[in-house]
Amino acid sequence: PLVKELFGLSELEEAVRAKFGLRQVVVVAGDSDSSDEVKRELGRAGGRVLGQMLSPGDIVAVMGGTTMASMSAHFKVSSPLQDNWFVPARGGLGESVDYQANTIAAQLAKKTGARSRMLHVPDHLSEEAYQTIMMEPNVREVVDMIRRAHIVVHGIGDATTMARRRKLDDRTIETLLQDGALAEAFGYYFNSSGAVMHRTANAGLHLEDIEAARTVIGLAGGRSKGEAIAAVLKFGHDDILVTDEAAAEEALKHG
Ligand code: BG6
Repeated sequence: PLVKELFGLSELEEAVRAKFGLRQVVVVAGDSDSSDEVKRELGRAGGRVLGQMLSPGDIVAVMGGTTMASMSAHFKVSSPLQDNWFVPARGGLGESVDYQANTIAAQLAKKTGARSRMLHVPDHLSEEAYQTIMMEPNVREVVDMIRRAHIVVHGIGDATTMARRRKLDDRTIETLLQDGALAEAFGYYFNSSGAVMHRTANAGLHLEDIEAARTVIGLAGGRSKGEAIAAVLKFGHDDILVTDEAAAEEALKHG
């Protein structure tokens, strides 16, 4: 707390909390765009918040990305979790394996003694393929669990960066941007007012599951993500934001 007072971080936390109507905001000092140490600190802070929110029996759905990977690398529990599950919030999103939700869920479970399930379903599916795959009993079982998650932890990205990382085709990217998409979270794209721009049939969490979850934690930092963070917070279903100073300042400007 002393360090936070020196940097005025608690005022920043309160300003972001009030502006976006959140339950809790945690801000770490610095800018993770330019410092790996800040990104690690952001991951640690995310892990602490998750640890505080966990209750016995909770199912935790996690998204992928480098920030979530940093959280999982630094996540610690004081005693092993016996009655918790970590599940990927979505299937494969075309990311490198280290940053996929499946990998992060498995790593968190391994580190904590909790259990995990994997979802081996590609993210971009035709309606027909989606219907067929959902009839597979073991896919169905994992999906039902994901959709009942009590806690959701997710990264936030800038729309263009994420669309490229996901290898969406150029036409789709162009349409998205023309429609005003500037943020991405949970595989959905959002415009500056937090409206969802792009939906596809997907086997993971649906927007109504995010609304139904008890606690939704957004974990994202770096000045370059400030505007995207503001857009996702305007969507209005996050309860807690864990971010860094630069992103918090930038998000306030777009609030
Ligand atoms: C992705 C999530 O894996 O990570 C996205 O699916 C999120 O919802 C993104 O926007 C953020 O990635 P990073 O690497 O910037 O933390």
